[in-house]
Amino acid sequence: VAHAVVRLNAPSLFVERFPSRSFASHKGTYGSLAVVGGDTGMCGAPILAARAALHTGAGKVHVAFIGEGAPPYDPPFPELMLHPPGTLGFGLEAMDALAIGCGMGHGPRAVSSLKQAIASDLPLLLDADALNLLASETALADALAARAVIDVDGNADAESGGTACACILTPHPLEAARLMGCDAAQVQRDRIGTARALAARFGAVVVLKGAGTVIASPDGRAAVNPTGNAGLATGGTGDVLGGIVGALLAERLPSYEAALAGVYLHGWAADTLTASGRGPAGLTAGELAPVVRDLLNRL
Ligand code: APR
Ligand code: MG
Repeated sequence: VAHAVVRLNAPSLFVERFPSRSFASHKGTYGSLAVVGGDTGMCGAPILAARAALHTGAGKVHVAFIGEGAPPYDPPFPELMLHPPGTLGFGLEAMDALAIGCGMGHGPRAVSSLKQAIASDLPLLLDADALNLLASETALADALAARAVIDVDGNADAESGGTACACILTPHPLEAARLMGCDAAQVQRDRIGTARALAARFGAVVVLKGAGTVIASPDGRAAVNPTGNAGLATGGTGDVLGGIVGALLAERLPSYEAALAGVYLHGWAADTLTASGRGPAGLTAGELAPVVRDLLNRL
């Protein structure tokens, strides 16, 4: 189904999907997210994602590190639960969503963690090295595509955009090129076509990042995000996006709406920082999430 591409112009497209903060709610109401990643030397990536998830309203946020030498806790954010490498033994069954791949590397533990994530029936967000592994390990790519088919078949509520396809891929152009087996210039020549092709192949919502981020659903819906600016062209902003969108999945937004909302808010936060002189030059990834929180609470 080839729907027209929507140019996202209002948070009203997704605002009604956010969980209302009702009086009798508790942290379980807002979901638990596990962020999996961080090989040795890259612990900062999942921490950035996890901090962003807290500020996006997730009830509980865990980080499962892949590499040795990770810190036991995050001093500025002791709310985060950090787990040393091993199996995902803190209890995947207690999670509401999983964001995997940031700074994860491509070692054996990364591969087995990704395998475990795909085998679970949790809503998934795959970023960075999880995408690189999909591109290099055919068995993983096949398992992901098969998982999506099972989800779609098993869900009677597919046309509402419910949980039919609880998987989001967030490639930047080079990661998308690796998945497509082409080069980044080819991806950039047809960003909408690439996002749609990947969405169809994996049965997943695809967020093709970069100026004018494209969001494509396997059901044919697609949108181009108008927010954000070159201040985002700095290390770690993609990890922050993963945490934001992962939190929205944990808060039980359907995958397409979670992707739309997260991408919109991430760019809007960058625009807000830039309007007050904190960007575009020198904007840092870690500054985005507190602004996302402010914007969310004013929606
Ligand atoms: N305008 C609007 N948005 C932009 C712009 C721009 N000019 N430049 C970048 N962005 C946004 C992208 O849309 C995306 O949301 O910034 C984010 C950048 O994400 P990534 O490319 O994933 O960057 P990063 O977080 O540094 O990635 C960290 O993971 O994906 C790997 O190879 C990557 O090693 C790197 C690591
Ligand atoms: Mg990235």
